[in-house]
Amino acid sequence: MSGRIAVIGAGTMGHGIAYIAALAGNDVRLTDARADSLAGATERIAGLLAGGIKRGKVSESDAAAVRGRLRTVHTVPEAVGGADVVIEAIVEDLTIKQDLLAEVERAAPAQALLATNTSSLSIGQIASGMNRPARLVGMHFFNPVHIMKLVEVVTHGVGGGPDNRREAERAVALAKQLGKEPIVVRDSPGFASSRLGVVLGLEAMRMLEQDVASAEDIDKAMELGYNHPMGPLKLTDQVGLDVRLAIAEYLHATLGKPQYEPPRILREKVKKGELGRKSGKGFYTWTD
Ligand code: NAI
Repeated sequence: MSGRIAVIGAGTMGHGIAYIAALAGNDVRLTDARADSLAGATERIAGLLAGGIKRGKVSESDAAAVRGRLRTVHTVPEAVGGADVVIEAIVEDLTIKQDLLAEVERAAPAQALLATNTSSLSIGQIASGMNRPARLVGMHFFNPVHIMKLVEVVTHGVGGGPDNRREAERAVALAKQLGKEPIVVRDSPGFASSRLGVVLGLEAMRMLEQDVASAEDIDKAMELGYNHPMGPLKLTDQVGLDVRLAIAEYLHATLGKPQYEPPRILREKVKKGELGRKSGKGFYTWTD
């Protein structure tokens, strides 16, 4: 069932969420604190539509419908007024997210589902300043949003817990309506994806430090032996070594387990500016 979706934050994730939401038939209001981000998002969405048409994934009439359903607006009240769902995708900063969610709670309809796309922060902490914290669920999309299938629905208990079971069910239904595969995860550090994925990446780095095998061969072990589409070191290059280091530090501090301790090689590479694909060098050299 389609409805009105407000997306707040028009960066890497927000523009992608707005795009898939409009493509799935929803009316979308996209807003951002910066006018240039909104203009950039409009351009990127036009690019996604053009690419979709070129590859035969989007028809001309679908593209026209998306343009008609998606509006950029300049204030939070304009975006969330009359919304069925609000998805927050602004900067990963606890205080800024808390302030925004408090404003959203005041301006959005009382029955609207409120979701945050945080990749690492505690949903409970983000919601702590709200009148009804159980209204907030995590909907953790992956980058690029129009391609990656997974959405982690993060709730106050598996299946939602007593307080927000209904919100969890609505988030699961919404993820499916957007063409995604939802999983339900209790609000805990790293959710399911980072908690598992980061261990693999960090252990691969420790193996490289100990000269167990080359980066290519460690990756091949997982690609060919375990059917992973991409080995853990190549994936770290894609995500960004600085991003991985920040997540590892957070998980190490919150879970207190040695497997999350960032390896020396990761710290050294980040210090040297070898951040992966975006800087041209990480565990591999990138030329594109
Ligand atoms: P981004 O930096 O590309 O975009 C963030 C946008 O939020 C910017 O356009 C900024 O102007 C806007 N913004 C900041 N404060 C605001 C406010 N108070 N009100 C309105 N707009 C505001 O960031 P990105 O990468 O899109 O990340 C957004 C969220 O998604 C973060 O919580 C991040 O952890 C999460 N995330 C990021 C992924 C990624 O691969 N980049 C993957 C999954 C989740």
